[in-house]
Amino acid sequence: MNSEQSTEANPVDWEAVRKDFPILDQRVQGHELVYLDSAASSQKPRQVVDALVRYYEHDHANVHRGLHELSNRATAAYEGAREKVARYLGARTAEEVVFTRGTTEGVNLVANAWGSKFLKPGDKILLTEMEHHSNLVPWLLLAERQGVQIRYVPVTDGGELDLSGIGDLMGGVKFFAFTHVSNSLGTVNPAAELCRMARDRGITTLVDAAQSVGHMPLNVQEMGCDFLVFSGHKMCAPTGIGALYGRREVLESMPPWHGGGEMINAVTYEKASFKQPPHRFEAGTPNIADAVGLGAAVDYLEGLGRPAIEAHDREMVGYALERLSEVSGLRVIGPRRGRAALVSFVMETVHPHDLTTYADRYGVALRGGHHCNQPLMKKYGLPGTTRASFYFYNTLSEVDRLVEVLQQANRFFA
Ligand code: ALA
Repeated sequence: MNSEQSTEANPVDWEAVRKDFPILDQRVQGHELVYLDSAASSQKPRQVVDALVRYYEHDHANVHRGLHELSNRATAAYEGAREKVARYLGARTAEEVVFTRGTTEGVNLVANAWGSKFLKPGDKILLTEMEHHSNLVPWLLLAERQGVQIRYVPVTDGGELDLSGIGDLMGGVKFFAFTHVSNSLGTVNPAAELCRMARDRGITTLVDAAQSVGHMPLNVQEMGCDFLVFSGHKMCAPTGIGALYGRREVLESMPPWHGGGEMINAVTYEKASFKQPPHRFEAGTPNIADAVGLGAAVDYLEGLGRPAIEAHDREMVGYALERLSEVSGLRVIGPRRGRAALVSFVMETVHPHDLTTYADRYGVALRGGHHCNQPLMKKYGLPGTTRASFYFYNTLSEVDRLVEVLQQANRFFA
């Protein structure tokens, strides 16, 4: 399936879709599993697991190297997956897609390859206060190594970017990296608008799409970013695979990051010359099988249709906000409206770790802690939050179960 297929007249049968995920049909700690941790990692449909098994049972060899049938098949499968990802992102060509291990590696690649060439001591880059550590620590390392200065777009108490001073903040900045959707607040940032403002000022942009790419329609050309990074494992693909989208001209201007086989044109004992992107950025034997799995995940999500997934998310989160308001002492962190498929909250009487551990005893899988957002939690004066995150395989009755367990926790910890 290669187009987004569900329509109003032909809605998705979510109950049937859930059956594609055998892992969800189990008991945990003696209770039916309620998996509400998809923002950390989504579950995988049978179709993706089957694609991995098929690849390993029929087609595996190394790519690009062998002049033999299996190597040709593996190469076709790997490059075919790249084309699927390019189509899914709305990239102009597959050459704009570099396979990585995930979001973190994508940011590190840009910080090292682009940052080392284009940023000099004293240059300014802009981040936001709501970045995940994966889009913060690589820049801190760069700042230490190259004397780059970092500015931050502030976050309001309501969990939104405070854009009132964005014009000034962008002044003299060379690079702006920001998250599309906050993993701890659920905020959806106006990515296209931010990219347009940056582009008008000649600023290169990177969008962290880890929490959005599997959940909503997204097109890099419409967004107007220079780079976009994401992980496959939050969008039904295996762990250990993700991609960096880079606008062709920008990728071509960058030196390699890792050196090794596969990324060279010619090597002597004195020097090496390098392939064009994306291969310049993929040294060594790539993660072929998981790229194939990512391609299968793209097919799967397109088969459901991203507008349908987004609508399902909206229903889940709307219902969750309504039901959570019934739990006494519970405070939702982040915006009330326009949020993505997750809700972070704190409860007066319970530490997030205790609450998450308590919920697990009743089969409800949540995430508790700082969510790799330590500076933001510190700014809010919180030890962390408890987070329930949803995907299209979740049901409204699972939200009811969550609320039941939270009410029970309230009594337990009172
Ligand atoms: N970034 C992932 C999360 O938010 C791990 O849970």
